Amino acid sequence: MTPAAIRLTVNGRRVTSSAPPLTRLLDVLRGEWNLTGTKEGCGEGECGACTVLVDGAPVNSCLVPIAQMAGVRVTTIEGLKGKHPLQGAFVELGGAQCGICTPGMIMAAVALKSRPSTADMQAGLAGNLCRCTGYAGIYRAIRRATRSR
Ligand code: FES
Ligand code: FES
Repeated sequence: MTPAAIRLTVNGRRVTSSAPPLTRLLDVLRGEWNLTGTKEGCGEGECGACTVLVDGAPVNSCLVPIAQMAGVRVTTIEGLKGKHPLQGAFVELGGAQCGICTPGMIMAAVALKSRPSTADMQAGLAGNLCRCTGYAGIYRAIRRATRSR
């Protein structure tokens, strides 16, 4: 039997997926729609590399089946179009090294409140692991990018 088509909005565009219902959102984004900015690290909800926004909230796309995405709005790193203040700040202030964690880290940071404290950043990014930067550059970048929010 052909799976029912799932309709949702990704980066402002209405899209349809006919993937089997338990296909991970991560795989549909990368494999069906070629949105390869979203990365896979652990594949089991531990690292945050696959973070996207679903209706504005950060979600691990490796844990979510496409069947649960009907009617939602998904934003991936491509949806920021390289123009979000966080993206420039991460580049300039050492927020990214190998880059595997970076798209997920930025998407989680987009969901932080304006002018987050260090505690806010630690709490908001608790599900996003970085093994390169030591986090200081990430926090510097977020501080600068959210100054004017
Ligand atoms: S790849 Fe999804 S949390 Fe690690
Ligand atoms: S920059 Fe390499 S894991 Fe974060």
